[in-house]
Amino acid sequence: MTVTPSPTSHPDLASILVTEDQIRTRVKELGRSLKEIYGHEEFTVISIMNGAILFTADLLREVDNPVRLDCIRTTSYGSATMSKGTPKLVHGLTLDLAGRHVLIVDDILDTGKTLSLIAGMIRGMKPTSVRVCVLLDKKGRRQVPFEADLVGFDIPDMFVVGYGLDFAERYRNLPSIGVLKPERQELPA
Ligand code: IMP
Ligand code: MG
Repeated sequence: MTVTPSPTSHPDLASILVTEDQIRTRVKELGRSLKEIYGHEEFTVISIMNGAILFTADLLREVDNPVRLDCIRTTSYGSATMSKGTPKLVHGLTLDLAGRHVLIVDDILDTGKTLSLIAGMIRGMKPTSVRVCVLLDKKGRRQVPFEADLVGFDIPDMFVVGYGLDFAERYRNLPSIGVLKPERQELPA
């Protein structure tokens, strides 16, 4: 699903790219897709903190399967808007994934570095299956080849915030997804 920007009165946003309503509708559809994929089977969700927390919480409430949940944390951005170098794992998993159906959930697929690192590590833990679900996909920015199995919205190459996505740890609590004004993309001294 692709999106078009709409106006906003938020002082830090240039436009709204995905509205609350669009998010709600699409998350329900993604829940139905998960049901088609997994049927009644159990699966284990690995949510990538902090960005995927809001999306994961809403998505999981759309499925009635038995679900196990674990979180993983990486760093790649620091506080800036450009991906810096190789992401590092800073918080590992606690659940055993061998013989499990694993669904990795992230907020946004950008260069692909984070998800290829995490998916590679998880595949090494001998799960029965590994799938990836992202809310947003910036296909034009890929630096390593990586495709998600489920994508909420394809978006252009713009830095977005809200619904879990941050700039310098701010804006995660906005209910919609907006494009940050260029003058707000400067880090505080
Ligand atoms: P990748 O490793 O370059 O694919 O980066 C993925 C991570 O970068 C995401 O999980 C986000 O935390 C962050 N990121 C990428 N693009 C954006 C954006 O437009 N806004 C906020 N965070 C972003
Ligand atoms: Mg993230």
